[in-house]
This record gives sequence, structure tokens and C-alpha cells, in this order.
Amino acid sequence: MNSLAHRHICVIVSGGIAAYKGPELVRRLRDAGAEVRVVMTAAATEFVRPLTFQAVSGSPVHVDLLDPAAEAAMGHIELARWADLVIVAPATADFLARIAHGLADDLAATLCLATAAPLLVAPAMNRLMWAHPATQHNVALLQQRGVHCCGPNDGGQACGETGAGRMAEPLEIVQAAAALHQHDALAGLRVLITAGPTQEPIDPVRFITNRSSGKMGYAVAAAARDAGAQVTLVSGPTRLAPPAGCEFVAATSAADMLQAVLAHVADCDIFIATAAVADYTVSAPAAQKMKKEGAALTLTLEPTQDILRAVAARPGAPFTVGFAAETERLAEYARGKLEAKSLNMIAANLVGRAGTGFESDDNELSVFWRGGEKQLGTASKQILARALVAIIAERYRAEVPHPG
Ligand code: CTP
Repeated sequence: MNSLAHRHICVIVSGGIAAYKGPELVRRLRDAGAEVRVVMTAAATEFVRPLTFQAVSGSPVHVDLLDPAAEAAMGHIELARWADLVIVAPATADFLARIAHGLADDLAATLCLATAAPLLVAPAMNRLMWAHPATQHNVALLQQRGVHCCGPNDGGQACGETGAGRMAEPLEIVQAAAALHQHDALAGLRVLITAGPTQEPIDPVRFITNRSSGKMGYAVAAAARDAGAQVTLVSGPTRLAPPAGCEFVAATSAADMLQAVLAHVADCDIFIATAAVADYTVSAPAAQKMKKEGAALTLTLEPTQDILRAVAARPGAPFTVGFAAETERLAEYARGKLEAKSLNMIAANLVGRAGTGFESDDNELSVFWRGGEKQLGTASKQILARALVAIIAERYRAEVPHPG
């Protein structure tokens, strides 16, 4: 928990029954060495009195955006700058909706908009409110923007129902905060990442593509950024918003992606290939829209260049990490690709089953390198990406000679 020592953490308490766990969260953060300031929404003060938070945090509690006394002591912009991390616990459905849409109608929401610090939200609400598409959409939008989410957990709820919606326990939130602040694992390193599918044109209106959503690659980019790396993300077409704080390069076909990678690879330290690059492209795409002619149609395909193999084969190649999607014999095929493409590491998952892999929010990863392997199990792509980045950092330090 040392990563929280001397960190400035702003805890925002929004108005739900789980606010009663807030004082324990503040105490545990302080036990971990953090300095804590508390901001409450007006509704939150109906559940727990500000005085309680003042006592456990050791600082005055902020509630009003337009309170002259509070603004004189530490204004909302100063508070936004002071924070190294902002934790919203509990995050109600209403509060998530407000910050997803950039509202600044009270001090708590304004702070989320005005801070450059990472944001960690711990949702807490009735299970149906949590499952509602509006809430799920808001949370997905926030996660795409790099907001971290801890929980909610399954279990009995204050309203008497049972399901997903309980706020994560204070200790879990402290652990999630500590994990976010393992900030230096890739500090000073440049990381180049490919993500998403490619589109191979048949004619000006048709193309060949695959089911990759880009979610895993975008999560890896955000995790590498949070570990302190300077990240360039080369992405095929996806529905995702580029992660904040990463250089973003859009590519369409496999040939485009190769060109973009070659333009950025020279000074990168680590290359992570998560993209589902087409293995074949149409030999001679038609210049005009092809007309149907009734008879069977044959398209001639030719192999694309393997971007990962090309990067790994460069003189002075970066530390290279590949991905392998397999439907069987995972370890054998993954280790085969590790050797065949001269990689430093490969992360492999089984595809073709419901619930993980392509298009899914969850994945199941195993990581292999020469002389070792680690099973990361099944989890959200965000959590797996953080675990993967931690292993990459460890292996990079072990394998690449560096000064000092
Ligand atoms: N890859 C790449 N460029 C390509 C094809 C693949 O950079 N033209 C990368 C992917 O990003 C991934 C890794 O290579 O990191 C593995 O790709 P995969 O398609 O699973 O393996 P292949 O070597 O193409 O083998 P196969 O299709 O036979 O499984």
C-alpha cells in the first residue's frame, strides 16, 4: 500500500445509503499514508453529517460550489489541482450520469470536470438501476475516457433486494487506488500499441474485416499510460473513443497500419501488437463499385505483411509483445508464435466461446515468455490490461539491459 503514501486524494461522497461506508474508506486511505480531502454532494449530507468526515479526514469538508469561506480557504480549482487522485464513493446513478455528460452543477461534479487527476468511481445503487442501459452506457462512456471503476459487488442491498449494485468494500477501493498509483512501472518508456481490426477494400464501398472491437488494445493503452509510459496507439476502425493522454494514429487497412507502425517504431521501447490484422488483402480492389453479375464471384487474396514479425526483425528491435487468439491447444500454439516471430512475450486467449474474447467486455489471458508463463484468469479487459502491463514492465526490466 506504500504507493498511496503522501498522495493527495479527494474523496467525493454522493448521496446514497452506502455513504455510511465513506468514513471507513477515508480512515483506511489515511492509514495507507494518503492525505484526504472530502467533498460531499448536498444529498450525501442527508446520509452522513459533514462533521463525521471532517473528524476522520482531519480537514474541513467541502459541499458548496459558491461558498465564499470554502473558496477563500481552498477554491474548487485549487482542490482539483491539489488532487493526485479523485475517488467517488459511493457513485450514485445520478452522479455517474452527471459526470458522464460533463455537468458542473455542484462542487462535486465541477471537481470531476476540472481535475487532470485519475478518477476512480465506486458505483452503488439498486440492482435494476445498475443494470439499466442508461447507467451501463454512462459507465462505459466514462471507462472509455479513462475513468476507473471499482465494483459494484453482488449481494444483499439496503432496499431488500439481492444483486449487483453494492458498493465495493472500503479495503477493495483502497487496493484499487493503490494499483492505479503504481505509476512508475513504465515511467520514461515509449510504448507503441496496435489495436482493433483492419479493413481490406474489395471496392470503394465494400471491405473484408473481422470481429475485433479494439477493447483489449485500448485497455492496454490506458493501462500503459497509467503506468507512466508515453503511449502511441495505432488503431484500425473501432467504435471506441481514443484513450485520453495517448497519441492516436488512425489506420484502415493492414498496409496502412504497417506504415503507421513503421513511422513510429524507431524510438519506441516496447511494441504491443493487439490488433487483429487481416492476414490477406484483396489483390486488385476495384476502382468503381462492383456490379452483381449473377455468376459466382472469385476474389483473389494475397498475404499481408506481418507487422509484428517485421517489428521484431528490425535491428535494435523494441521489446515485442504479441497476442494470439486460438480455438485450441493454446499454450502450444502461443509458444510456437513466440519463437516463430522472435517475440519477447505473447498473451494468448481462447476464442470461439461465449463471454470472452472478441467483442466481449471480459477476456481470459495466459502470458508466455521464454522460461516462464502466468495465467491471468478471466476478468474485465481493464483489469487484465493492468495485470499484463505489470508483467510487461517486469519482463522488460529483466530482459533489456538499461543504464544504472
Ligand atoms: N499480427 C500482425 N500483423 C499481421 C498479422 C498478425 O502484427 N499481418 C500480429 C497480431 O497483432 C498478433 C499476432 O500477430 O499480435 C498474432 O496474430 P495471429 O493472427 O493470431 O497469428 P498468425 O501468426 O496470423 O497465425 P494464425 O492466423 O495461423 O493463427
